[in-house]
Amino acid sequence: MEKKIVFSGVQPSGALTIGNYIGALRNFTELQDEYDCNYCVVDMHAITIPQVPKNLRKNTLDVLAMYMASGIDPDKSTLFIQSHVPAHAELSWVLNTITYMGQLNRMTQFKEKSKKSDENLNAGLFTYPVLMAADILLYQADFVPVGEDQKQHLELSRDLAERFNSRYSDTFTVPEPLIKEFGARIMSLQDPVAKMSKSDSDTNAYILLQDSKDQIARKIKRAVTDCIGSVNYTDEQPGIKNLINIHSVLSGMSVDEIIKLYSGKGYGVFKSELAEVVIDALDPIQTRYQQYLDNKDFLEKVYSEGANKAESKARKTLRKVYKKIGFVPRG
Ligand code: AMP
Ligand code: TRP
Repeated sequence: MEKKIVFSGVQPSGALTIGNYIGALRNFTELQDEYDCNYCVVDMHAITIPQVPKNLRKNTLDVLAMYMASGIDPDKSTLFIQSHVPAHAELSWVLNTITYMGQLNRMTQFKEKSKKSDENLNAGLFTYPVLMAADILLYQADFVPVGEDQKQHLELSRDLAERFNSRYSDTFTVPEPLIKEFGARIMSLQDPVAKMSKSDSDTNAYILLQDSKDQIARKIKRAVTDCIGSVNYTDEQPGIKNLINIHSVLSGMSVDEIIKLYSGKGYGVFKSELAEVVIDALDPIQTRYQQYLDNKDFLEKVYSEGANKAESKARKTLRKVYKKIGFVPRG
């Protein structure tokens, strides 16, 4: 029986946070044996926000190394860099022509990002979800593991697949999001009603996968909580709730077990033990990450072989699409 197909991507727009790990990378690893997985470093998405070229190059290799450090095996999954496979840009153009402006206007991520950067309201930021649909549909993905924030973009991908299929006959698999009930939205440590984001201007708002033990402990200690003073899992205590979520995902303990463990103890104890949990979970990842980064030849081998594998899958879909819309084959 053919394996079902998985696709997902992470932007190299900065160092990755534990939000990226918990909401995305960790889940990618779990899927490798059962599915035909394709994991991409989406550098073409990252340039919708201005990037310093030197940093973009570094961050792209960092994300690739982090993918493998968190357990993705390039012999099992196709691991590649988006700009190495031109079919992404090509399909994106075609999909642009069947996307309504109104649909893109409703994208909450665009609305939020455009509020932040009115000097750079570029067209790429607006059509970004179309490129994302192209990424997914090129590989005929059945499932797309992502964090909660990508749900709306996934709905657009499904919609475009269905629209194309009904206009030109069955061509694309309609993809389904895989969003974990737990950990799909890790919140900022400084503002627990906002998403933890690697582009936050306050470095205390996030924990990076590459943060030192001291940095991790300090950031957790400074995390915003409340004045209620007991470790409970409720929406009135969004800071503590977020910390419990992080604890639970990384320690494997249930929310109830955690609440019981810290009942009658103060936030100080909870925070210092949580710091231990995070440090222990990240330690092996950081060691492997450094090993991959120190081995540039191996990284290059991974992304060039990955691009070859991805390219042949993507071309197959693009050829079909071009034929259906009436482009004359080059022969
Ligand atoms: P990005 O950093 O925007 O490229 O996101 C890469 C992946 O990480 C996507 O699947 C996101 O949904 C996920 N992600 C990013 N931030 C968070 C967060 N704070 N909590 C959970 N998942 C996240
Ligand atoms: N838009 C996603 C994010 O910001 C990244 C992404 C690009 C992606 N293409 C994708 C995720 C395809 C899943 C599938 O997190």
